[in-house]
Amino acid sequence: MIICSCNVIREHDIRAAARRGCRDANAAYASMGCNFDCASCEDLAEFLVEDERENMITVDKSAA
Ligand code: FES
Repeated sequence: MIICSCNVIREHDIRAAARRGCRDANAAYASMGCNFDCASCEDLAEFLVEDERENMITVDKSAA
């Protein structure tokens, strides 16, 4: 699913950036060589980064 139509960024791309260590949507977009343009995707992108990072933390806790 495309989240950002300005940069053609998919949900998978944002979640992958979060797993690589990007802590927010700005960092995730920058890691893909992009920036917000219209920013209509910003809230959803932030949610996806936070959700992915939270899932990573949950997985790490269960592995301990
Ligand atoms: S839809 Fe993402 S910057 Fe416009």
